[in-house]
Amino acid sequence: MEGVKIVTIGGGSSYTPELIEGFIKRYQALPVREIWLVDIEEGREKLETVGNLAKRMVKKSGLPIDIHLTLDRREALVDADFVTTQIRVGQLKARGLDEQIPLKHGLLGQETNGAGGMFKAFRTIPVILEITRDMKELCPEAWLINFSNPAGMVTEACLRYGQIKKVIGLCNVPIHMEMDIAKLLDVPKEDVWVRFGGLNHLVYALQIFLKGKDVTEQVLELSTDPEKGMAMTMKNIMPVSYEREFIKALGVLPCPYHSYYYRKDEQLKEELVQLKEGAVRALKVQEIEKELFALYQNEDLDIKPPQLEQRGGAYYSDAACSLIESIYTDKRDIQTVDTRNNGTIAGIPDDSAIECSCVITGEGPVPLNIGHLPVAVNGLVQEIKSFERMTVEAAVTGDRDKALLALSINPLTTSDKVAKAVIEELMEAHKDYLPQFNR
Ligand code: G6P
Repeated sequence: MEGVKIVTIGGGSSYTPELIEGFIKRYQALPVREIWLVDIEEGREKLETVGNLAKRMVKKSGLPIDIHLTLDRREALVDADFVTTQIRVGQLKARGLDEQIPLKHGLLGQETNGAGGMFKAFRTIPVILEITRDMKELCPEAWLINFSNPAGMVTEACLRYGQIKKVIGLCNVPIHMEMDIAKLLDVPKEDVWVRFGGLNHLVYALQIFLKGKDVTEQVLELSTDPEKGMAMTMKNIMPVSYEREFIKALGVLPCPYHSYYYRKDEQLKEELVQLKEGAVRALKVQEIEKELFALYQNEDLDIKPPQLEQRGGAYYSDAACSLIESIYTDKRDIQTVDTRNNGTIAGIPDDSAIECSCVITGEGPVPLNIGHLPVAVNGLVQEIKSFERMTVEAAVTGDRDKALLALSINPLTTSDKVAKAVIEELMEAHKDYLPQFNR
């Protein structure tokens, strides 16, 4: 059949209007014939609200795209070309627990890092692996494009344990960084090219070019400007301004998530204040979502409302649509995605997921080689990769000892004893979503 079939699992997400806008914008190059938005029973209402907005957006565009809403994932997957996953197992309530419980033990509470990230991986990975099983059966040629967090670990789980080979992870951090760098330099975004390398939420701008000229040093200098540099962050992360000498010596630009490692104390302090005030990110996001869904319900709304940009994940769907377009058209442009290392970064196992600049072809991403990361950067990257590998193995096997090992070697953890206590509490809090640990 003519045209592309897209299936979006977690279709009731507040981010979906961005995805729809992205497909409408690209219709000439990427003729999408149908979009199936899939959700679960608990997400039925959100799916209907977002789905109806999607239908109004398509109607306004006048394009022949059919929007289908369903709670039946398997029905949707039949003969799909691209499957995108944007699920949150346990919804925002579970995220709130990931953020609050570690903090009570003096550990950072964050959605994708440390103990919170580990438990999000434990809840998400089994569900995504089930999706790969369904895909093998119902649409074996389709690409799986995952944005579900923790995107790096979820991608790694698919690469090592999934039933299909065509898997790519995606994040909005590199796009954000590129936009911020262009702002810092006061130039159009199109003039800037950044070579990225590292892991998801731990990616570095290794080299920065302005119209082909290497301007890395200039950007590093500007990034520590107390005013301009502070503007370089994401909505969900407290901005920090690093010491000029530190960034200069590091020689590469860290991503906003690095502040959880390079400014541990400040970030922890800030989160403890949020905990006390009952204002951890999950609770703020719940408020933003209420506002967004109230807007989405308005029958006169037929565009993506600008308020969506209050969310940390803004522009991620744009990244997804560009990626799908490049695969579909064999465009061979460069985008930053999460993919199999395959020797790209020295010292990381071949089958692990890394995040780096890749040429996007009809056969998927081809990473630009990196080789050895700078020594000062390599240590943290390898340490987090060990944590990620252990976490993925624990998520798949349900081995509690492995979970303890993973958290104890994480640089945000203060001791194995604390790790054990945090794990016990989180295991209990999330037990309904962790069947693999409770067999
Ligand atoms: C970032 C990350 C995403 C994450 C989002 C959280 O931009 O790259 O992976 O999902 O922020 O934003 P939120 O608004 O949910 O806190």
